[in-house]
Amino acid sequence: MNRKRFVAGNWKMNTSMNEGFQLLKDIMDRVSESDLETCDVSIFAPFTHLKVFQNTLNGSLMQLGAQNCHHEEAGAYTGEISADMLASVPVAQVLVGHSERRQYFGETNELLAKKVDQVLKHGMQAVYCYGETLDQREDESYIEVVTNQISTGLFHLSAEEIVKVTLAYEPVWAIGTGKTASAGQAQEIHAHTRSILREKYGEEISAQLRILYGGSVKPSNALELFSMPDIDGGLIGGAALNAQSFEAIIKA
Ligand code: PGA
Repeated sequence: MNRKRFVAGNWKMNTSMNEGFQLLKDIMDRVSESDLETCDVSIFAPFTHLKVFQNTLNGSLMQLGAQNCHHEEAGAYTGEISADMLASVPVAQVLVGHSERRQYFGETNELLAKKVDQVLKHGMQAVYCYGETLDQREDESYIEVVTNQISTGLFHLSAEEIVKVTLAYEPVWAIGTGKTASAGQAQEIHAHTRSILREKYGEEISAQLRILYGGSVKPSNALELFSMPDIDGGLIGGAALNAQSFEAIIKA
C-alpha cells in the first residue's frame, strides 16, 4: 500500500498575526508544489490566523488545520470554537486529543470521541493524537494505554468514517523535550496501532490509514523515523516554527 506522506505543523499557542503571516509566507516560498505532490503538508495554526491563512493558501496544495474544537454543536460555551465554525472558514483538518489538551484541559478519550464526531460531521478530517506518559512507558503499561486511547476515541466510527482520520502517535515524554522516541520505539507503537486497526476494520482500511509520529522531530532525525514501514510522516511542533527546519523535514 502506497500511503502518501503527511507532514503537519502544529504551531500551538505561538506567533502574533503578523509573525504567523510572515512564517506562512516563508514556508510557502520554500515548499514547492512538487514537494506537495509527494507529501501532504498541513499547518495547524491558531484560531485567530485561520481566515487570513485560508485566503493566503487559496490555490496552494498546502492545507490548513485547527488545533482543537468543542465537542458540542453550538450554544452557551463562552470562549469556545465549534467544528461548524471551523468548517465555515473552511479548514481541512482538526487536531483532536493532543496530549497538551489531555494534560492541561482534562480531555478524556470519551470526550475526544465526541470531538472526532463533530469534526467528521462537518466534513473535515480529524488528526487524532495519542501516546503514553513517561510513567506509563516505564511501568510498561504503554501498550494498554495507547490501545485504550485508540479504541475509546475512534472505534465507534464506521469504516467510511475512520478513513477520514489520521492518527498521530506522540509519546508525551518526547514532546517539546528534545528526546525523540527511537525509530524502533516509534515503529513498535505504529505497528501495534496498525494491527489493532486491522483487527477492527480489516486489512484494506488499516493499510490505507496514515499514522504520524510526533515528539521532537527535527531535520536530523526525520529521515530515520520516516523510513520505518508504519510511520507515514510527522506532527511537528517546535521545528514547524522555523521555515527552514520545516522544509527540511518535508524534504525528508
Ligand atoms: P514537538 O511537538 O515537535 O515540539 O516535540 C510535537 C507536538 O506537540 O505535536
